[in-house]
Amino acid sequence: RVEWEVIKKAREEVPTIALDERSGEESEYEFPTLPDTVLAILYDGGKAAEEEPRLLGTVENSLGLADWLKAQGHEFIVRQSVDDYSILALTRLKAEVLITTPFHPGYLTRELVEKAKNLKLCITAGVGSDHIDLNAAVDHRIQVLEVSGSNVVSVAEHVVMSILLLVRNFVPAHEMIERGDWQVSDIARNAFDLEGKVVGTIGAGRIGYRVLQRLVPFDCKELLYYDYAPLPAAAAEAVKARRVEDLKTFVSQCDVVTVNCPLHEGTRGLVNAELLKHFKKGAWLVNTARGAICDKDAVAAALKSGQLSGYAGDVWNVQPAPKDHVWRTMKNPLGGGNGMVPHYSGTTLDAQARYANGARSILENYLTGKPQDPQNIIVGIGKYETKAYGQR
Ligand code: NAI
Repeated sequence: RVEWEVIKKAREEVPTIALDERSGEESEYEFPTLPDTVLAILYDGGKAAEEEPRLLGTVENSLGLADWLKAQGHEFIVRQSVDDYSILALTRLKAEVLITTPFHPGYLTRELVEKAKNLKLCITAGVGSDHIDLNAAVDHRIQVLEVSGSNVVSVAEHVVMSILLLVRNFVPAHEMIERGDWQVSDIARNAFDLEGKVVGTIGAGRIGYRVLQRLVPFDCKELLYYDYAPLPAAAAEAVKARRVEDLKTFVSQCDVVTVNCPLHEGTRGLVNAELLKHFKKGAWLVNTARGAICDKDAVAAALKSGQLSGYAGDVWNVQPAPKDHVWRTMKNPLGGGNGMVPHYSGTTLDAQARYANGARSILENYLTGKPQDPQNIIVGIGKYETKAYGQR
């Protein structure tokens, strides 16, 4: 394994190393700096990744970067979590570049940012960099780049699917069939058409707008959006979307709310018990943005009471979600309304090809000193370069 080679090499160079690997405690010896070391925190794809090379976001297939980086003489360390060795690579082997994905995020806390003295660039292979303490990155002049746009269609399609599966009561219907039962009334009593409903998106950026575009042919009663950045007039007109500036007023008008904004200080816990009171009774909520935008317990309680008829999404406040996470099994009073899946809407094989390519060009630009595509820069040197991660 590549990372073992690096660690072995470091040990050979400093044979008396007395590092306490488990605690990561400082020892009296310094690890040598390995220039341009790239650390990737991906996830263990197991048998699936061995059989399917297009599963690029896995440790096994390493975004297709291993041979390319090696050929250029760069060190490439791949780990599956922020474990002792990846911390070691950041703090002692002094990795310069960190690549992570949002699907199995490697959480880069302020504490780690402060220790990672050589870190200059974080690349998110995908979209959504909230697993990195972005304010700490600003303070420490670490750039954070995403592969903007790489999976926005993948997510928008998933959102439309999730809206439909909730509104049409699909999951309990399928479970009934697997059980060997057939009682149409039990399903139909809570199944509706999307036509004629009011659907609103919190966040009308790349994904939110694509969701609105895809909803046009469903003849919804109205499409609404809530975003501090108004859509260009022509774009709003093209999907006939109306902006609502007050969040409570917005949710009170929607039959379906879909969340499509990034997670930042202004959106953490945005959909909480207080806001849920303002939802229409029996509304459906879809969140493929980030789990922590919705308050875990408030959502579970709203579903249980019937204030929400359904909740669907693929993002969780902690990932991987613990086995007993309430969102895995929560239900509405009729025993349905749960459309939760693991975080995969933005990691279809099509999306993986796009974000692997995008991560590689960001890396290539960095290593060869070429300018980056401005739309990919979330945090530049010492400042935010996007308006999407909060109003500052
Ligand atoms: P984007 O940057 O194109 O759009 C985000 C929009 O949210 C912007 O228009 C921004 O003004 C708005 N926004 C920010 N704060 C807001 C607030 N407090 N209230 C209302 N609107 C607010 O980003 P994009 O590409 O549409 O992605 C959005 C998010 O979706 C990502 O940040 C990520 O968290 C999530 N995502 C999830 C994926 C998945 O696999 N589940 C994959 C890709 C993205």
